[in-house]
Amino acid sequence: MNDAGTHTRRVFSGVQPSGNLHLGNYLGAVKRFVEMQEEDFDTLYCMVDLHAITVWQDPEELTNATRELAAAFMACGLDPKKSILFNQSQVPTHAELGWIFNCVGRVGWLNRMTQFKDKAGKNAEKMSVGLYSYPTLMAADILVYHATHVPVGEDQKQHLELTRDIAMKFNNDFKCPGFFPETEPIIEGAATRVMSLRDGSKKMSKSDPSDLSRINLIDSAEDIAKKIRKAKTDPEPLPESADGLAERPEAKNLVGIYSALSGQSVDAVLGEWGGKQFGEFKPALADLSVEMVAPIAVEMNRLLADPAEIDRILGDGANRAAEIAEPILAETYKHVGLLRSR
Ligand code: TYM
Repeated sequence: MNDAGTHTRRVFSGVQPSGNLHLGNYLGAVKRFVEMQEEDFDTLYCMVDLHAITVWQDPEELTNATRELAAAFMACGLDPKKSILFNQSQVPTHAELGWIFNCVGRVGWLNRMTQFKDKAGKNAEKMSVGLYSYPTLMAADILVYHATHVPVGEDQKQHLELTRDIAMKFNNDFKCPGFFPETEPIIEGAATRVMSLRDGSKKMSKSDPSDLSRINLIDSAEDIAKKIRKAKTDPEPLPESADGLAERPEAKNLVGIYSALSGQSVDAVLGEWGGKQFGEFKPALADLSVEMVAPIAVEMNRLLADPAEIDRILGDGANRAAEIAEPILAETYKHVGLLRSR
């Protein structure tokens, strides 16, 4: 049951402040955040610093990366007057509900999470407990606001399914049907999974050792153009229709990026470029990428020149977020039977 009838239409999403915000984050998530800010929703966008520390972060760099991410959000078009922008650790209700969800979620559910397996590899024993229980905190991020819609890239799909499972189990266990909503993931568009520019089988990622694999939002126009020029391709011309991209991951990725940046459908892009060589397509993609992405770094640098103003915006966002979350947490405590005498 999606209880949209009784829950305010509310969007929540988060991004980790762990450096190197890239084109995948932008096209898969932040661009959609900006669109939803203009639609009929309350919108909350969070720098999830508590999630970032599930793997080691240098303390000073974490503080800087949090401000940088706030600047990137605003440079991409998020407006602190229209959306609540804040960092997770300033609103303690996330961690409090996270603990309750650690007691609702099941070990078997977490054992199935592919992101943990990908990140931990063969070293699961040496990973932090926080990395393992990462998805329960993520469920708390969303549900502590009774958020109904969550825009994310494809890689977060399984975490959002877990969020729904936790909501349902809580509502069942504590006999409060519809208390937590069944949140709807919003995974839409041609770029929900942007791939590495060096290897079309790997996701574009901030942790890829090759900087040429990704376009960072902080990159200069020259770097953006260079990375597109050097992107891996195959020797064939572009196909006439989307079916022809099926076995060509690098071509599919570049066409997807073009489609998402230009706002044209993949078919429309291939209608224009089908039959042409990458030698012609890449310069056009480089120009389009520079046009759309380079201004973000310029605006980020302008905003970062005034860190006190960024801190003020995040503090204000945290206060507004807490106003929504605290009554929901108080009601949650009541359902669980946790005594509160203040
Ligand atoms: P994070 O910080 O890894 O990524 C932020 C957003 O960017 C999307 N994304 C991509 N989209 C397309 N192509 C890619 N190559 C690509 N790489 C990343 C991610 O899907 C994500 O939407 N667990 C989350 C943060 C989080 C969260 C939340 C999200 C914590 N709590 C609550 C939503 C709701 C994460 O690690 O995102």
